[in-house]
Amino acid sequence: MSEIVSFPSAREFDPAALASVDQAYGESRPLPSEAYVSPNYFDAERARMWSHNWICLTAGSYVPNAGDTIPLDLAGVPLFAMRGRDGEIRVFHNACPHRGMKLVSERGNAGALLTCPYHNWAFGLGGELRQTPHIAGTGKHECEGFDKLKFRIKEVASAVWFDQVFVNLSGDAGSFEDFIRPVAQRWSMFDASLIRHGGSDSILTFDLDCNWKLAIENFCEAYHLPMVHPALNTYSKLEDHYNIEEEGHFSGQGTLVYDPARDGAPLPKFPNLPPEWDKRAEYLALYPNVMLGIHADHFYAVRVLPDGPDRAHETFDIYYVGDETTGASFGNVRANVRETWREVFLEDVGVVEGMQAGRASPGFDGGVFTPVLEGPSHCFHRWNARAMM
Ligand code: FES
Ligand SMILES: [Fe+2]
Repeated sequence: MSEIVSFPSAREFDPAALASVDQAYGESRPLPSEAYVSPNYFDAERARMWSHNWICLTAGSYVPNAGDTIPLDLAGVPLFAMRGRDGEIRVFHNACPHRGMKLVSERGNAGALLTCPYHNWAFGLGGELRQTPHIAGTGKHECEGFDKLKFRIKEVASAVWFDQVFVNLSGDAGSFEDFIRPVAQRWSMFDASLIRHGGSDSILTFDLDCNWKLAIENFCEAYHLPMVHPALNTYSKLEDHYNIEEEGHFSGQGTLVYDPARDGAPLPKFPNLPPEWDKRAEYLALYPNVMLGIHADHFYAVRVLPDGPDRAHETFDIYYVGDETTGASFGNVRANVRETWREVFLEDVGVVEGMQAGRASPGFDGGVFTPVLEGPSHCFHRWNARAMM
């Protein structure tokens, strides 16, 4: 029997609707369609969620040397990362304190000083203003009464874990240590100091025509495994998975049958792992925007960042254990690992974009979670709803 549905005049964000999302699994409803299609909801996410939480933005390996810079975008806010002489990565607002010129437009190296392309004010690698050419007229580079200390590049709170660079725009998200502790403890048997980025052959990028949350919540659940990933499901079956839910922090799934056997040389493993990790792997979304996968012989991180309500961009970095894995002798095995994950993530593109397309329907308003297999997705919805209320 047909139901009467009206065409919504505007899909506006109603915070009251989120109270029904912030309920226990089984009693809650999923996020409404507005959360995926409404510019209004997207603006509210920028103001409430992206600015007041620790957000994963880039990888430390992208700026390996002192002076290396990379432009970043946090939901429309221009930032850049730069490695200092002290080896520390810092993240700054990407706007010159003089007239607001964007300071870093492409990946590169600043050299000794970062120079603004407009009037060539030059900054130290810690953001301090060092040189102000012609500030007091032609050939006069110093100006009495002008306090350089007041015009450093504005820095944003940042921290690095497993090579992932996190930022907190507002500075009021609480300590990074508190944020990262639950996942750091869960995976404390993995020595993060040993991970090495596989290099340019170990990066994948995907542009998605969907809201960023669909990529995250799809990653959280294994329910779709037999239907969407038939090849993966031949050796890592749905029944071999378990749910992971750490409310307020992360959720995802683990498998008990990870098989590291591949063509080519076996990869080195993290040392001193408890034996159960020989065949185990875990995949979790650390809220809000980074999807992590850990195995005895490799680690990956996929950062999801929004480009408006209905577009998102994923950057996928693969890491191995120990220096030797980045060399040519492991080139084939790195290519195999990358191809395996590329295939899986490509299979997901169709469903995340299909869910976005369905959300244009006035006949759909969030749907329903099944009672057993979608707890991790619910956990993420609940986190988002709380962050937005
Ligand atoms: S805007 Fe940067 S030096 Fe003028
Ligand atoms: Fe998937």
